[in-house]
Formats: sequence, C-alpha cells, structure tokens
Amino acid sequence: MCGIIGYSGHREACPILLDGLERLEYRGYDSAGILVSDNGMFHTAKRSGRLSNLRRAVEEHPLRGCCGMGHTRWATHGGPTDENAHPHGTERVMLVHNGIIENYLSLRELLLEQGYSFQSQTDTEIAACYLDYCYHGDPIDAIREALNGIEGAYAFVIMFSDHPNTLYAVRKDGPLLAALGNGENFVASDVTAVIRYTNRYLVLDEGEIAIVTPERIRLIGLDGCEHHKEIQTVTWDVEQAQKDGYEHFMLKEIHEQPDALRHTVSPRVKNGLPDWTGDGLPQDFFARFNRIQIVACGTAMHAGMIGKSVMEKLARIPVEVDIASEFRYRDPILTEDTLVIIVSQSGETADSLAALRLAKARGLATLAIVNVAGSSIAREADYVLYTFAGPEISVASTKAYSVQISLLYMIAFTLGRARGTLSEEQERSLTAQLLSCEKAVRDALALQDQIEASVRPLVDAEHLFFLGRGIDYALACEGSLKLKEISYIHCEAYAAGELKHGTISLITEGTPVIALCTQTALLPKMLSNIKETTARGASVFVIAKQGETISGDVADTVLPLQDFDDLFMPFPAVTVLQLIAYFVARARGCDIDKPRNLAKSVTVE
Ligand code: F6R
Repeated sequence: MCGIIGYSGHREACPILLDGLERLEYRGYDSAGILVSDNGMFHTAKRSGRLSNLRRAVEEHPLRGCCGMGHTRWATHGGPTDENAHPHGTERVMLVHNGIIENYLSLRELLLEQGYSFQSQTDTEIAACYLDYCYHGDPIDAIREALNGIEGAYAFVIMFSDHPNTLYAVRKDGPLLAALGNGENFVASDVTAVIRYTNRYLVLDEGEIAIVTPERIRLIGLDGCEHHKEIQTVTWDVEQAQKDGYEHFMLKEIHEQPDALRHTVSPRVKNGLPDWTGDGLPQDFFARFNRIQIVACGTAMHAGMIGKSVMEKLARIPVEVDIASEFRYRDPILTEDTLVIIVSQSGETADSLAALRLAKARGLATLAIVNVAGSSIAREADYVLYTFAGPEISVASTKAYSVQISLLYMIAFTLGRARGTLSEEQERSLTAQLLSCEKAVRDALALQDQIEASVRPLVDAEHLFFLGRGIDYALACEGSLKLKEISYIHCEAYAAGELKHGTISLITEGTPVIALCTQTALLPKMLSNIKETTARGASVFVIAKQGETISGDVADTVLPLQDFDDLFMPFPAVTVLQLIAYFVARARGCDIDKPRNLAKSVTVE
C-alpha cells in the first residue's frame, strides 16, 4: 500500500510528482503529500483525503524546485489526517515511506531521550527522525546505520537538505524502482507512475541503495560495493494505463479480458498443446509433483479455488488452497513432492510474499503466477508464469482473475497428461476449448446492457447472498467479494447445499439471492436449493446457460449465458458477476475504482 514517486532533473518537480501520484493513487488514497527541494530549502504540502485536495493546496501556494518526492497514503499507524500525511522528518532529513516499522515504539523512546519531538502519530516519522539521529554528514553511512536499527517492511525515498538534488531510495519487503530518463531520473513504487516519461527502469533489490541525481542512478549495496544490473523495459505504453473513453478503469479492464486471455494463453500453446518452454520450465516439471498447494489472497485466492476444482477433476491430484495470511502462521504440512503455486496480480502482496518465502525455506519448489513483471514474488519464486493482462489500475481485480484461472487450467491439462488421467487427444481438445473462452467472454460482455437493466432491483439491497455448487461456489465467492468491495452492500457467498445449516434464517421477504447455475450436472440440486430460498421470500437472480429450463416460480430474473462446456463456464460467468458488481456500484454512486478503505497493492501484513 502507499505510493511513492521521486524526481530529480531539469524540470519543475511539482507537476511531475502530482502526475505520478495520480497514477499511484490506487495504492492508497487516505492522504497525499509532496516535498520539493529548492537548492536545499525543503517546501512541503500535505493534505488528507484525495489527491485533488493536495492539488488545490499546491495551486494556491506553488512549490518550486527541480528535485522532490511525493506520497499517497493508505493509513496504518495514525488516522488519515494532514499531520500524518507524508513526507515526514526534520529540517535536515525528510522521507516518504511505504510499509510498517515494527519497532517504532522502542525507537520512539530512544529518540525522546535524545530530545526529539513528533508532529504525527506515524511510525514513519519515527523512522525519519531516527535517520536524522544517525546522520553525521554522510547519507549512505546514515542510511546503513539506521537500517540496522529499523525492523519491519519499508520502501523509503529520502532527501537530505545538504544534498539538494539527490534522492536516496532503499527497500525491504516493499516495491521500489528507479527509472532512467534523459537528464532526469525517477524513483517510484511502480512503473505506471513514470511511464509517461520513460520506459526504462531498474528494480531495486533488498538492501540496495539507489542514489538518484539528474545525471545518473548509482546503485550500491549496504556493504558499499557498486552494483550494476540490467535495465528493464516496459512493454506497454501510457495509453494502456489510461481509461480510454471508459467511465471507469474497472469497466475498461472487464472489457480487456478477451485480449488478456489471448495474450496469456496463445503464446503458451504449441501444436495445439500447452507448452511451457517459453517460461523456462523444465520439460518434466509438472510430472515431479503429487500435491499442489495454492496460496494467495482475495481475488487471487478465489482464482486458486477454481484451479483446485479443475486440477482435481482433470489430473486427480490433491490440491489445497490457502489464504496466504493463514498459511504462513499455521505451520502447514508440506511434503517434498508438493508444488507451491503463489498467485498474485501485483506480485507484491506481503502475505503472499511471506508464504512464498516460507515454502522456499522448507525446500519446496515454487511457481508464481504474477501479472507485474519484475515484482518481488516474480523475482523470488523458482519459476514464474506471467499473466499478460497489462496494467490493472482499478482496485477491484477483474482481468487478472480471468488470466490467473486460464493458467491454472493449462497447468491442470499438463498435470493430467503427466499423470496419465488425460490422453493427448483430450488435452488437445481442452486446450482448444480454453482458447475459445476468449469468444465466450466476448459473448458475456455483449450482455452488458441487459445486465445493467436487470440489476436495478439489487441497487437498494442491504444484504445479499450468492449461491453456487462446485465450481459455481468458487465463482460465488468472487462475485460476492466484487460486489461488496465496490458497492458496500453486505454480501455472503454460500455453498448452496450449506445454506439450510444455519444461514437460511437470514432469508426473509425480498432478500436478494444471486444463484449461479452454470453447471448442468448440478442444476437439479441448485434448483431445489433456490426453491428453499424462494419459499422464504427470497428474490432470485439466476445466471444459467441459455436453454436450461428455469421456471418463473424459481427465479425473478434469469440471465442466459451462451451454452459452453461446464468446465469452462467460469470465464463468461465471472464476467457477468463483475458487470453486476460494476452496475450496482455505479447506480449507488460509489467511487468504483477507489473503494473506501482499500488499496490496490497490499504490501503490509
Ligand atoms: C479484490 C482484490 C484483492 C486482491 C488481493 C491480492 O478485488 O483485488 O482481493 O486480489 O489483495 O492481490 P494480489 O493479486 O496483487 O496479490
């Protein structure tokens, strides 16, 4: 969480910092602040709330200077106030921070004894003052000494007033990169913040300090040795990180799913079969494992649930799916024939990264499914399969889910073949069906107007249930998360057969229920469960395949999807669920791309 941008160059820093913050605002939007150095004179502006508040403040009192840093905050320690907004520090040392300083209370005691006083309730201010305390004229020595005393997760950009045009950047468990321009250089939490100015960047390793001036970016280790590394290049352009005529990023990203699927699946199909050589996987890679452990958070974890269904069905391999924050603290039983798959859009989620490290420490093989190139999870996993969804800006994840499940399906096909549960012909036919999911998603997108019209009865709901069985239950979990996170309607996803074991007591006259009925084999059971709810007054919205018989006494609304194999129904069905969430939230006037209390990249535990 939190977004960081830094600039050192020949232009006025302020507009560049504000522009960068606008692109990073999805990482947190509780407050924003910038600092510009005018030959060593620090000028700051900080405002709680959205970036527009800071913009207004800066318009009234412009900040001049060609070097500076900015921060957009997702609050952890201390509420979302002006005082708690970053940057923090002293007259000599100021910094912006993404992460959590775990030992801030003991550092605070030490600093109080030394006569420091604090303006905010943040752990960041303590870190900044501690750095000041360690500073005796050499910034690198000070950073090195301070990092020895600081425990926790951080990405810092630091400025020293007696080094006016230089930014110092360092990270541990938080993303940070340095980007190379022409006579100007940048630091940022992610590349979307600087893509307008340059597509060349260096990912900072942990314990590496970037010293950024207009002329160059130097990287040195904490041992003082100079580091040289390969420059990475972004393959997408600034347009892809813009709304492109759509009202919201979320809607744009929902519509990008067919292309994202094609870009992710097609390059990995050779002669009609999955082929992982382009990803650098050894030929017999998947044949080595007898168990799969999928670990992820939120939507990525829901993608893992679909992966479990498909892998167990096609490859008869036991698959466990864990929430990363639980997995890491429950001392999981992991055998050496287990492949640990970490799924993450951002590749920076703190709990997923910790789960990956735990699996590696236990000596297990790890495979990451990640969207953001060069992210921490991508770099630390033994192997990485990139999803080619392009930048996902909306906080609610949509296209990332579809491409994540597409790779989990492909892995299931390969596993099935390796374990002898699928013939080559079956694998070929499944691969062809996966390729045709692009069209199934386009067909689902064509229902957009119908979905917008039919969700009207849901708009004023106070609470709502999603029901499904089997793979539809996994989908229900995702549909429910999507709707609650952006519309603020309380939703619950239930395995349809489980409802009567307690939760059905919540169904009263008019309670809306969204019932996923995409699995023909389970349809009769679903219809019985739906009737149990209508008998208690529920108002039911059914999502089913065209041609299935759903009578009027079962459903108030039926949304028909093109007929498709049961196994592949999650692709069109999730598209419908995303559109339902979108149109309900829009009708309720919600801030769709930046829902309250959330941030896109969750780099704290
Ligand atoms: C929900 C959502 C989150 C993320 C979760 C994991 O729409 O976006 O639940 O899926 O925070 O994030 P990544 O995939 O970046 O690890």
